Amino acid sequence: MKILIIGAEGQVGHFLTHDLGAQHDVSGTSLLGVDSWPALDIRDPAAVDETLSALKPDYVILTAALTHVDQCEEKPELAEQINVRGPEHVARACQRLGAGLAFFSSEYVFDGQAGPYAEDDPVNPKSVYGKTKLAGEKTVSELVERHLIVRTTVVYAYLPSSVNFFMQVLGRAQKGEPIRVPGDQVGNPTQALNLAQALGELIEQDARGIFNLVGTTRLGRDDFARKILEKLGYAPGVVQSIATSDLKQKAPRPLCGGLKTEKAQALLKKHPLWDLEQALDFTLTQMKEAQPAS
Ligand SMILES: NC(=O)c1ccc[n+]([C@@H]2O[C@H](COP(=O)([O-])OP(=O)(O)OC[C@H]3O[C@@H](n4cnc5c(N)ncnc54)[C@H](OP(=O)(O)O)[C@@H]3O)[C@@H](O)[C@H]2O)c1
Repeated sequence: MKILIIGAEGQVGHFLTHDLGAQHDVSGTSLLGVDSWPALDIRDPAAVDETLSALKPDYVILTAALTHVDQCEEKPELAEQINVRGPEHVARACQRLGAGLAFFSSEYVFDGQAGPYAEDDPVNPKSVYGKTKLAGEKTVSELVERHLIVRTTVVYAYLPSSVNFFMQVLGRAQKGEPIRVPGDQVGNPTQALNLAQALGELIEQDARGIFNLVGTTRLGRDDFARKILEKLGYAPGVVQSIATSDLKQKAPRPLCGGLKTEKAQALLKKHPLWDLEQALDFTLTQMKEAQPAS
C-alpha cells in the first residue's frame, strides 16, 4: 500500500513511519521540511492538493495538529486553522483521489465527567482543543468514505525529541527534582509504537469509523509517574500528587477520562493494545537500545 503520513516529524508520525515503512511504501511530510520529509503546511489547500496529487497515496494518515492544549485555548483561531481547516483540506484531497484517511483525535472530545468512554458515548468537549478535534472528526467522516477516526490520549515513548510525559518524568528524575503531578486526572497512557502498530493493523483490515486506540490500563497521572519511576529504578516517593486546578492551566482538562478498548481489541490480532506493564517494559527497552553501549 502507498501510505502518506502528514506530520511525520511528530511523535506519533515518527513511530508510524518506522513501523509501517517495513511493510508499505511510506512517504511523509513535516511542517518545516526538516529531516527527510518535505514541507507541507496543512493550512494551505493548494499545497495539500499538489502533494497528494503528485504522490497519489492509497491511504493518508494525518497526525499533524496543534497539539498544545493551552496554546489552543490562547489562540483559538490558530487552532481552528490547523485542527479544523487543515483536516478539511486533506479530506477534500483524499475525496478527490479516492484515498482512505486516518485522522487522529483525542479523549478531549469528552467532558471527563464519567470516563472511561466508548466510541459511541455522547461527546461534550470543554476545551478549544477538544472542540477543534471534534470538528475535524466530523469533517473527515462526512467527506471521506474510507475513514478511520483514532481517539487516543497521553501518548508516550522513549523519544528524546519529544516532551511527552515519560520524557518529562525521566528528565526530572535524572535531575533529582520533585515531580508534581495531578492525581485527579485519570486516563489510559498509550505507548506510541503500540498505537502506530495497532493503527497499521486496522488500516490493513480496511476498518472504518471511530476507534479508541489507547493502553488498556486506566490510572491517575500521579500513579503513572510513580510506575515510570519504579521501572526506571528511581524512588517513586518524589512524586507529589496535586489537584489539576493547582496548575492554573488555561484549558480545562477531562478529569474522570479514559477510553474503553473493547471495540479495537476485538479486531486487533497481530498488535493488541498493551497494558501498562508491557508498555513500560517496552519503553525501557527502547531507552536501552538508544543508549550507546558502555
Ligand atoms: N500526544 C498525545 O498525547 C495525544 C493525545 C491525544 C491525541 N493526540 C493526537 O495525535 C496526533 C499526533 O500527536 P503527536 O503526539 O505526534 O503530536 P506532535 O508530536 O505535536 O506532532 C504534531 C506535528 O504536527 C506538526 N504541525 C503543526 N502544525 C502543522 C501544520 N499547520 N501543518 C503541518 N504540520 C503541522 C508539528 O510540527 P512542529 O512540531 O514543527 O510544530 C508536529 O510535528 C495529533 O493529531 C494529536 O492531536 C495526541
